[in-house]
Amino acid sequence: MRKAAASGAGPTPVAPPVGAAGGYNAQAPPFVPRTGGDAAGSWGSSPAPAAAAPRANGFGAPRSGGWSSGAAPSGGSFGGGGFSRDGYGSWTNGKHVPGPANPRTEKELFGEAGDGLSQSTGINFDAYADIPVEATGTDVPEPITEFLPPIDAHLLTNIALARYKTPTPVQKYSVPIVNGGRDLMACAQTGSGKTGGFLFPILSALFTHGPRASAAAAAPRGYGRSRISYPTALILAPTRELVSQIHDEARKFAYRSWVRPAVVYGGADIGSQLRAMDQGCDLLSATPGRLVDLMERGRISMANVRYLVLDEADRMLDMGFEPQIRRIVQQADMPDVMDRQTLMFSATFPREIQMLARDFLKDYIFLSVGRVGSTSENITQKIEYVEDDDKRSVLLDILFALPPGGLTLIFVETKRMADLLEGFLAQNNFAATSIHGDRTQREREYALETFRSGRTPVMVATAVAARGLDIPNVTHVVNYDLPSDIDDYVHRIGRTGRAGNTGAATAFFNRGNRNIVRDMIELLREAKQEVPAWLEAVGRESGGFSSGRGGGRGSRGRTPASRDVRSSGGGFGASRGASAAGGWGAPAGGAPAYGGAGGYGGPPRMGGGSYGYGGGASYGGTGGSSSAW
Ligand SMILES: Nc1ncnc2c1ncn2[C@@H]1O[C@H](COP(=O)(O)OP(=O)(O)OP(=O)(O)O)[C@@H](O)[C@H]1O
Ligand SMILES: [Mg+2]
Repeated sequence: MRKAAASGAGPTPVAPPVGAAGGYNAQAPPFVPRTGGDAAGSWGSSPAPAAAAPRANGFGAPRSGGWSSGAAPSGGSFGGGGFSRDGYGSWTNGKHVPGPANPRTEKELFGEAGDGLSQSTGINFDAYADIPVEATGTDVPEPITEFLPPIDAHLLTNIALARYKTPTPVQKYSVPIVNGGRDLMACAQTGSGKTGGFLFPILSALFTHGPRASAAAAAPRGYGRSRISYPTALILAPTRELVSQIHDEARKFAYRSWVRPAVVYGGADIGSQLRAMDQGCDLLSATPGRLVDLMERGRISMANVRYLVLDEADRMLDMGFEPQIRRIVQQADMPDVMDRQTLMFSATFPREIQMLARDFLKDYIFLSVGRVGSTSENITQKIEYVEDDDKRSVLLDILFALPPGGLTLIFVETKRMADLLEGFLAQNNFAATSIHGDRTQREREYALETFRSGRTPVMVATAVAARGLDIPNVTHVVNYDLPSDIDDYVHRIGRTGRAGNTGAATAFFNRGNRNIVRDMIELLREAKQEVPAWLEAVGRESGGFSSGRGGGRGSRGRTPASRDVRSSGGGFGASRGASAAGGWGAPAGGAPAYGGAGGYGGPPRMGGGSYGYGGGASYGGTGGSSSAW
């Protein structure tokens, strides 16, 4: 099964020069569907351009239901149907006509270099290239190495405005994979550019090939009260703040193009979201619950979707969104798996979730940048033994000792604890705020805004802020309460140490956290972090918890996956390619070698705390809104 295994610095790049006859498809043999079906797809009545004859200046048409030459309407005008707004262009007579530059919009979207509003790359950005990459599946295309054609020229302009110089490893691989028409399950460390990993290839194709023809989508826009929106690309993500952030990124990279991004999420006024959608909704970022609501109101159709992205796919499938996702993907009018491209991204992908995710993909490529579920070496991790009753005072000590200037994010397990701790910090004169599922959307957004701007440099959060959020200058993450699942820990600490910047993470550990101790030790070793002797002792004592990954959740048994579950055979190490730079440590599932003896810092005092670690109760199958976080 495995076809490509390479270090990021590995195989020679293949960035064809502008106008080169060979796009990526030229290297890929014909698409073979996993299940029966018409591989030619049904995007247009005329056949897609053959893989061997890509467009002169592009990646060529995707093979699964490619952009037939008749697919993008050559007559008429898209991108507002002649209705023009600042910052947008149009698709007119079969051509992309970018809108005029608008300095005010440009400044709003891209900020200014060094303004601190967007994440600058850190000193270790270039080191991402040393992380071993494994891409499994049939006919894996070669990665790109630079932001160059055949990426669409207009997208390149926007990438330059965002001050991105080099693609990150996940972007290097995902761009040709997606532009070659393939489905993708991609795993890459937190903060390593997965958002661009899906936005770049999708926008590049949309800019080059235009909208998908359909009678519905060709209808004039902007008229009538109850218009139906027909997005071409749909991005689903688990939380409101995350879809809103993805939408902001989409606005950047779609600047001046015919593609209108839109966003919908729960807790916010549906009327204004609908009005915004009426202005254009080509690339929609959505939380599953709100999207189902809009579908049931008949305001949105999935009939035109040719790109489906599940960001934080494991979280959405694991946390109760599965029914909504099946409703959106399988029980409405979305094109069949053969007639769309499906992409899934996360930093973690447990085995069972990979199995479940396969329902949505066809003949996909599994991409892992580093081991699945590994943490970035840019984050210095520290584990402290702290009994529940001592946590408050230890937290104050930490906060007092921090150098000023950075932001500190503190994770707790329950909404109640988030409120209590915010109050406690305020009493102690810390400018703190909190974010959790019981706060109104307005309060959540305000909290995030004051945190981002540094007005409240400390934010207490539940798991609602654990995934995907990209907040510049978070220098320290504290796991005041550890989660019961190691993958959650990986995502939480990943709010720092992003885009090659360094960060610190401190976790308060006590006997209540024994269920994750083995995974934690493995994770620390792999990321070349110090493993305290006392933690090793707990690890030895907790032998029975060795498969504790996910053990606290109850609802769905989970076992660690270090790689593509389709691949059989040995551990990750056995199949990786040029990995000398990697330093993988013990293979997943192997018994870690514990050395040294260590005692506990004192007698355990568990049981008296006001919160438990049972785990199961915290994760209802409600899609998030009424969960404990
Ligand atoms: N090629 C690039 N060059 C410079 N900066 C980049 C590049 N790609 C992404 N970034 C920046 O890196 C940061 C992290 O990117 P992103 O949020 O996409 O990470 P992620 O992999 O999705 O992380 P998470 O797992 O937490 O969701 C963002 O601030 C983004 O602007
Ligand atoms: Mg992300």
